[in-house]
Amino acid sequence: MKKTEPNSNKNSKIVSHGIDLVDCPRIEDMLARHGKRFISRIFTKAEQQYAQKNKKNKIEKLAGRFAAKEAVLKMMGTGWIGKIAWTDIEIINNPAGQPEVKLTGEVKKIAKKLSIKQIGISITHTANFAIASAVALANKNEKK
Ligand SMILES: CC(C)(COP(=O)(O)OP(=O)(O)OC[C@H]1O[C@@H](n2cnc3c(N)ncnc32)[C@H](O)[C@@H]1OP(=O)(O)O)[C@@H](O)C(=O)NCCC(=O)NCCS
Repeated sequence: MKKTEPNSNKNSKIVSHGIDLVDCPRIEDMLARHGKRFISRIFTKAEQQYAQKNKKNKIEKLAGRFAAKEAVLKMMGTGWIGKIAWTDIEIINNPAGQPEVKLTGEVKKIAKKLSIKQIGISITHTANFAIASAVALANKNEKK
């Protein structure tokens, strides 16, 4: 399937949902106070590069990604626990601009335990707020 075609998830069912709201000035403040340390603890290289592309709304894009990571943690029902690293959840935009989630490390392990085969993510942001919503998809025939 070409990435720019409409999504089709005929063989999937939604098993969980998470949502998060982030205050953009809070992210700006964290960036001003902790700079690179904050950025590299929370965001992968690809996420940092994506946010850098447009200097004008860099903070919004970072805040959107942060909201997306928290939405995924809520969706899994764990929150930020144990060995989870913020960079275990990476948000990458496909050629059409739609964000997609790639999991690694501890979060990938948890998602596997929960039989999550794919995560759908949606992000919106203004200068003040960023919101993200995440849904977990499992195979239709998967028993819970
Ligand atoms: C994709 C679109 C819906 C984004 O909405 P928006 O109001 O411009 O901006 P929002 O802040 O709500 O959303 C931005 C986020 O949309 C997401 N997005 C972008 N393209 C997307 C797509 N094809 N599918 C799903 N999500 C998409 C991205 O996550 C983006 O944030 P990010 O770049 O930080 O990852 C919009 O650009 C669009 O295509 N609108 C069509 C109508 C139009 O052009 N209107 C303009 C004048 S009214």
